[in-house]
Amino acid sequence: MCIRDSFRSSGSILFLQLRDGTGFVQCILNKGVLKQVQGDKIGEEKWNEAQKIVLETSIEIIGKVVEHPKQKGVFELQVSDFKIYQIPDEEYPISKKEHGPEFLLDQRYLWLRSSRQWAVMKVRDTLIRATHDWMHQNNFVKFDSPILTPAACEGTTTLFGVEYFDLGKAYLSQSGQLYLEAAIASLGRVYDFGPVFRAEKSKTRRHLTEFWMMDAEAAFVEHEENMQHQEQLISYMIKRVLEENSEELKILERNIEPLKKIQPPFYRMTHAEAVKKLQSMGSKIKAMDDLGGDDETKFTKLYDKPVFVEKYPAQVKAFYMKRDPKNPKLALCSDLLAPEGYGEIIGGSQREENYDELLKRIKEHNLPQEAFQWYLDLRKYGSVPHSGYGFGLERIVAWVCGLKHVRETIPFPRMINRITP
Ligand code: 4AD
Ligand code: MG
Repeated sequence: MCIRDSFRSSGSILFLQLRDGTGFVQCILNKGVLKQVQGDKIGEEKWNEAQKIVLETSIEIIGKVVEHPKQKGVFELQVSDFKIYQIPDEEYPISKKEHGPEFLLDQRYLWLRSSRQWAVMKVRDTLIRATHDWMHQNNFVKFDSPILTPAACEGTTTLFGVEYFDLGKAYLSQSGQLYLEAAIASLGRVYDFGPVFRAEKSKTRRHLTEFWMMDAEAAFVEHEENMQHQEQLISYMIKRVLEENSEELKILERNIEPLKKIQPPFYRMTHAEAVKKLQSMGSKIKAMDDLGGDDETKFTKLYDKPVFVEKYPAQVKAFYMKRDPKNPKLALCSDLLAPEGYGEIIGGSQREENYDELLKRIKEHNLPQEAFQWYLDLRKYGSVPHSGYGFGLERIVAWVCGLKHVRETIPFPRMINRITP
């Protein structure tokens, strides 16, 4: 156990705030009680030793759990004995006063000890567990996609390249999707969940260069059902956080009323409808544009539940998306935008399952056919309609915790201007 926040002293009583990983508790060190339990001499020595305790002292406490005299349901520890493990020589660099984000990020290895960061990591953990649970309850098999890959999944502009022995250039995965598409012919429904990498040049509150993605892929699932899976999964994840993390959400001062409303069905609208709405709100977005970050913020402040924006112009989306048979200029895709200004948390689509069509797209996108030949081959042997999606874990954590920036949602954030600690 360590001292967390502060300690107050009033005459013969010391108040210590302790944490042990499971939570926080106030401990009362009373000179009188110590003497009563330990005898006068040892009690006096213990009391003197306790005066040396400073912030981030590590300590073991033996004591009695007592209810707070004025706050019902709040419990404290009445200390009868303790053992000090270590007293820091230097003053702890993070204090109660306001620190700037860069200072805190430089001290990330210590900042993680604060109660807010503790709460964020606990919510993140619940969201991860809830994801695995929902996937397995719905017959998805965990399938681990590789991280070192020979080609791009999500466009060539955000690839991180590495030298790969005598074989030339390899790339860090942007998404495991293409490998999941191979797996569905064996396992039917699969998902992966791991770190992915994007050399994002943008410094926004939504972008990291390393983040955790969950990709899901399912055979015989088409566009509409793909969205149903997503709204069920997200609703389940939020429900689990509400059930398991009320203490953490309180520490984060997250208003839980908006989260309680997150239940299927989510709103649905086409990209064309979203563009019209944005234009009426003063946005400069044009018919063939992707939604920008500011557009997503403005747009999702209008809604109390997530919104699927469907059927984007195919030209602004990835090469693998199936075209809408009713209008081949559009992709059978959806972005799921979280409310309260959060914006895109999931990208998904039905996939092109026809060999010739897919080859055409690969050529249109100037992608090297050779590197994608195995992916094309999947369309030669027993190809079926299929769909999938991928979520960015940090964007969901930011939304659920009510955080402004994704940098606090991952243990050690990597951004264009930060690779340490
Ligand atoms: O929309 P994206 O690019 O979709 C794909 O990668 C698909 N291959 C997924 C699939 O269909 N299996 O990325 C998916 C999600 C986004 O919706 C967003 O939540 C998150 O990943 N994301 C990022 N999160 C943090 N930092 C970044 N730079 C991100 N880029 C995407
Ligand atoms: Mg996207």
